[in-house]
Amino acid sequence: MQSGRASNERSLHAYGRDQLQRLWRATHRSDAPDRVLQVFDALLPINAVPKGWDSFVSDDHSPYEFSLLLGGAQPEIRVLAEPLPPRDPTTRLTMGHLLECGLAAAETLRRDFGADLSRFQAVADLFLPKHGAHGSFLVWFAASFDAQGTPSFKAYFNPQVHGPHEAPRLVEEMLHRLGFPGAWSTVVRAMPRGPYLDELRFVSLDLVAGHEARVKVYGFHRQGTLHDLVRVAGAVPNATPELVESFCGMLSGGHGILSERAPASCLAFVGGHAVPRTVTSYIPIRAFAGDDADARARLVRAMSALGMAPAPFESALESLATRPLDAGSGLIAWAGLRTGRAPRVNVYFAPTALGDAVRHPTVAPSADSDCPSVVIRHCEGAPITTHPLLQRIQREPHDLRKLALLMLNVRRAITRDFARRLARIVATVEEDGIRSILVKQLNDELGDGDPTRLHKDLFERFIIGLMPWLPSPITDEVLAPGAAFARVQDELYCERSPYEGLGAALIMEVYGKQFDLFVGEQFRRASDPLPPDVLEWLTLHEALELEHVDEATVLARFIPAGRKSRLAARGARELADAAWAFLDGTYHVCYP
Ligand code: TRP
Repeated sequence: MQSGRASNERSLHAYGRDQLQRLWRATHRSDAPDRVLQVFDALLPINAVPKGWDSFVSDDHSPYEFSLLLGGAQPEIRVLAEPLPPRDPTTRLTMGHLLECGLAAAETLRRDFGADLSRFQAVADLFLPKHGAHGSFLVWFAASFDAQGTPSFKAYFNPQVHGPHEAPRLVEEMLHRLGFPGAWSTVVRAMPRGPYLDELRFVSLDLVAGHEARVKVYGFHRQGTLHDLVRVAGAVPNATPELVESFCGMLSGGHGILSERAPASCLAFVGGHAVPRTVTSYIPIRAFAGDDADARARLVRAMSALGMAPAPFESALESLATRPLDAGSGLIAWAGLRTGRAPRVNVYFAPTALGDAVRHPTVAPSADSDCPSVVIRHCEGAPITTHPLLQRIQREPHDLRKLALLMLNVRRAITRDFARRLARIVATVEEDGIRSILVKQLNDELGDGDPTRLHKDLFERFIIGLMPWLPSPITDEVLAPGAAFARVQDELYCERSPYEGLGAALIMEVYGKQFDLFVGEQFRRASDPLPPDVLEWLTLHEALELEHVDEATVLARFIPAGRKSRLAARGARELADAAWAFLDGTYHVCYP
């Protein structure tokens, strides 16, 4: 057993190199080839100092991590690292430094080790902005070595560099640019809970030329269950969801909400196909097993159940352990199962070079609760207008056919039945304060006593004006997203408790405002705008939305704490997710 950890910053590189050497000997029973160590030097330069920067690569903030891919003829050793600048005690590390170091590392991998950067460069402007980047990282690189030490490389980007809510549009645009036009729809179907719950945290590219180069999309399932991992696996033709469920269940310790730390899935696309070749399901095992001895036992059992020999994993672990396994937690950080082709197990070892975590109580999956204002704030901070459909409409040349399909679905989903749904909440909530605000909205919607001013009818006129750009006939398929969203609203507003409906109404208000203003801009981009009477619904709503600024927040304050609040939060969340899913479906209709 090795002792200590990197004692000061200068020895971080030496410490890591030594770990790699030991891991190599334990795994391949020979010294690490020079080339392997040279690659490590390129990824973690001798004088790299993480001072002032908490690297997100590993839990103890070491800027590198080792992992082992098991189940093939030979285990594959891999290193993931964050390029960091050399020591400079006078300046704080900025995103600018990370950008500079990331680009320099990419160039070294190209020049010295034959990495192909063509796809890296094709999307670099999306993920490596010169200004304004923020988040937990900018770019990472990974090397995997075959038993002879031949490396292959991957680059990781952070889809959240412009904030978490921008991630879907960046990933969508990346897939589009790299020649995977159908892949975004697959991602969405596999991870349908929306960008908050199925959070896109990484993308990676194989740095090789040609058809076999993979593009990977990583989703983290907040408040997720094994079911979420199984659903992602279901999107991959030859994946084995049963294996995913049993393997991940053994690692996490059972069913239920994995709230301690989100599990993750990775879809790997190749050759321009919309259907992924493999899926990897990851469990942050350290969050659920109390210590590394427990984590090891769970993994050994899960690997044995797959018929995979655990010995290489056990000797790798032993080569890296700095203390008895039951004296701490975190050495085994993550484990994953890749299916779709012959199953492979990935095990991730934190280097614990900068710190080591004490053992913690074993955690079991749990349940959650919430409050509606939190959901409102979230929907305001992450506007629906960042949805990839709306972003693509905005990015591409003005096209009334897409806008017409969108508005046709809005009609089906919302405007046809909005007043009736809202009236049910007005009738059934117990608080007159809430009723008072809602009835004003309802009154606007119904034309303030003038049946010729029903918003629904103004909307009909809008749609009639859009007819020339709509397909004929209009099939059920074209209307499917609207129909699905209508069903969710009917259920929330009319069948559930009034407070779940109220929660839904709050988010309709928040998203409605964002959406109406966005759509207004898009219609006004036309060189030949539609006549004002066709656009009347839109013009009216743009004005109304600006008037009712904080109505949702005010309404939320009237909801009593406790059960009613919890119900409203649940309705709000469900509506927000359904609205996002509605646009996901409409994306598919607009860009089949
Ligand atoms: N440390 C990061 C995280 O926990 C990134 C990471 C490193 C990771 N290795 C991983 C994520 C393996 C999933 C699986 O999210």
